[in-house]
Amino acid sequence: LTSAPPLQIAETYFKLYPGEVDPVWGNPCLDARHQKIWSKNKSCDSLPKFLVIGPQKTGTTALYTFLSLHPAIASNTPSTDTFEEIQFFNAHNYLRGLDWYMHFFPVDVNSTTKYYFEKSATYFDGELVPKRVHALLPHAKLITILISPAKRAYSWYQHIKAHGDASANNYTFHQVITAIDTAPKSLRDLRNRCLNPGKYAQHLERWLTYFAPQSLHIIDGEVLKSNPVEVMNELQKFLKITPFLNYTEHLRFDSKKGFYCQVKNDRPKCLGRSKGRHYPPMDDKSQKFLQRYYVSHNTALVKLMKRIGIRSVPNWLKDDLSDNT
Ligand code: A3P
Repeated sequence: LTSAPPLQIAETYFKLYPGEVDPVWGNPCLDARHQKIWSKNKSCDSLPKFLVIGPQKTGTTALYTFLSLHPAIASNTPSTDTFEEIQFFNAHNYLRGLDWYMHFFPVDVNSTTKYYFEKSATYFDGELVPKRVHALLPHAKLITILISPAKRAYSWYQHIKAHGDASANNYTFHQVITAIDTAPKSLRDLRNRCLNPGKYAQHLERWLTYFAPQSLHIIDGEVLKSNPVEVMNELQKFLKITPFLNYTEHLRFDSKKGFYCQVKNDRPKCLGRSKGRHYPPMDDKSQKFLQRYYVSHNTALVKLMKRIGIRSVPNWLKDDLSDNT
């Protein structure tokens, strides 16, 4: 009895089961058989307990920084390519496998860290992300921050422009968001990155097909700006974190920055210049366009929030839906 070489067997197998070409990593700690054959130097503690999933430009770096001040919470070690974000579940890094992911969460028996988390703002709108996160971390808690999707789109445009992107420099914001489908690809890509993450309900529904509403915590990004202490208090309650950290001692409004900043040795330590940028207000035409563009998405968001038991709708959402065009 002979067998074909491994590569040939694999090719035949994947022809028969094309759906298995893309791997989905499960959690070895949830299967006794896997745990038995797992190397002794691996630990189930090398996985995050909660994820900040984004979307981009909603205040995710501020939240990440505030969370990291807590003595029992730690984020992953930094990635060489994407800095504080691992971006595992949404892109090519996923194919690097579980060991690659877990090495970002080293277990140190002497440390006070009880809760590892990671923040990758690109997770929010990634098609495959909820399924992949659920397969590996079915008990994870998920945190998302929402601001007006129009404001988010504009902040993204300004962010990309500041990075010297040619489309953002050659086209106005209004030209970008109203670009038609026959426009150059780079312009359409920028339009999509401005507009698509803001279809909040659509993306949240995808997360909710895998996770129970109780796993999801939605932060109003405007409250994160104006009253981060309240946000951090609510978040600690949601995560059932101990000890409870009194953030009033750690965060202070800095009038020069225009935002709350961390207090270190009685001095403000604010986020860098790329967070809380100064740019002109959005033009009226774009504002009106986006208000109309997001009406159905924002209406769906209100319904979704009510359905999952969120009683108070954010003020920005009420404003976006009020007809002042
Ligand atoms: P702008 O620079 O457009 O004002 P992210 O970290 O997800 O990329 O979000 C960046 C946004 O976070 C900033 O967008 C800013 O408005 C907001 N933000 C919220 N709290 C902040 C804080 N304490 N310091 C700086 N920026 C903050």
